[in-house]
Amino acid sequence: MDALRNPYSPGAGVRPPELAGRDDVIDDVLNVIARLTRQRATQCPMLVGLRGVGKTVLLNHLYRGAQQAGAIATLIEAPENKPLPILLVPRLRELLLAMSAKEYLSDKFSRAVGVLRNFMASWKVKYEGIELSLPGAPSTPGLADSGDLDNDLAALLETIGELAREQKRAVILFIDEMQFIPENELGSLIAAIHRCFQLDLPIAVIGAGLPQLYANAGRAKSYSERLFKFYTIDRLDEISARNALVRPAEQEGAAYSEEAIIEVLAQTQRYPYFIQEWGDKCWRVAQSSPITLHDVKLATEAAIQHLDDSFFAVRFDRCSPLERSYMRAMAELGDDAVRSGAVAELMRRTAQQLAPTRSSLIKKGMIYSPSHGDAAFTVPLFADYMRRRIPALQK
Ligand SMILES: Nc1ncnc2c1ncn2[C@@H]1O[C@H](COP(=O)(O)OP(=O)(O)OP(=O)(O)O)[C@@H](O)[C@H]1O
Ligand SMILES: [Mg+2]
Repeated sequence: MDALRNPYSPGAGVRPPELAGRDDVIDDVLNVIARLTRQRATQCPMLVGLRGVGKTVLLNHLYRGAQQAGAIATLIEAPENKPLPILLVPRLRELLLAMSAKEYLSDKFSRAVGVLRNFMASWKVKYEGIELSLPGAPSTPGLADSGDLDNDLAALLETIGELAREQKRAVILFIDEMQFIPENELGSLIAAIHRCFQLDLPIAVIGAGLPQLYANAGRAKSYSERLFKFYTIDRLDEISARNALVRPAEQEGAAYSEEAIIEVLAQTQRYPYFIQEWGDKCWRVAQSSPITLHDVKLATEAAIQHLDDSFFAVRFDRCSPLERSYMRAMAELGDDAVRSGAVAELMRRTAQQLAPTRSSLIKKGMIYSPSHGDAAFTVPLFADYMRRRIPALQK
């Protein structure tokens, strides 16, 4: 069908034509944002789920919602291997600039600028072109300059929170891929937010990440489970999955046969990213509407080929031979969570010998541990891929 009118949006963080099945989470988080802007205490929402379930598009949506609600918001993606201070400083500076309208140039504002300056010096954050001088801004020795990240980040967020309270606004840091923040830095961030909440300051983090974020946060600070409210972002329910597939086509005047819909939902297992991929391939192979079961079968071949060459392959390629063997053994044991002991047995090693491999796979975001001693893939349908990629298990 007409390629120009193809409505689907397969990709990372690409806004879907229909943001299906997330209304409850959206309502809840917008409520958190509304409470914060009214200077009321709340919890920090954390969107947790596997690769491709739609965490980033949801976070972007909520970020826009926060801006519309008048909050001062910034959107940060935590990359692997970048220290938190370096990640935060440019964004906090951006927030301060957004709070620097003339009528707001109060003592609290210049104090916040001073404290950010101290933090940068203390954490050796060099940021080209950063201009933080303010005529008459007092120096604020002793704040955010101790060299202890727990203290310094708390002091910094507290001063920004005080400024937010003075301005009767909320400050929200949206942080994606939070599982990549190292545990000690995550602990400092949690402690800083905790302190701000204790002081009733309207500053919060709204985060997203892979399921390892639960454990990371719990290990970093045991009280994180009370500070954070975790939302599991999962595959779509039946009706939402149908909507995600059918509605974008309808908007373009096209339809699917009932068998075609059932087949797409079965193949994609209702995972949002896969629905976009299958929708896209169906649109490409179909000659005319309605899209039929035959079209879906052709689309399935194309979609799997494409996923194998890109989505799955980029992840596989990042792993060492031993890590690949580990994942292949996991796939041998099934599609769901498997016991680490059983994986080791299959590889004729002890769980202890394989512990470094397992933890490196968790660190890379390939697998996670749903409960103690278990391992599961963070990428949906990855077990199938592993069996296709390495047909015979090497012991
Ligand atoms: N609720 C939804 N309805 C329909 N499509 C969606 C929905 N959520 C996400 N998608 C689509 O799924 C794909 C993946 O979305 P996104 O990048 O937000 O996932 P993610 O969870 O952030 O993945 P990753 O963990 O790899 O970063 C995109 O193509 C997006 O358009
Ligand atoms: Mg994402």
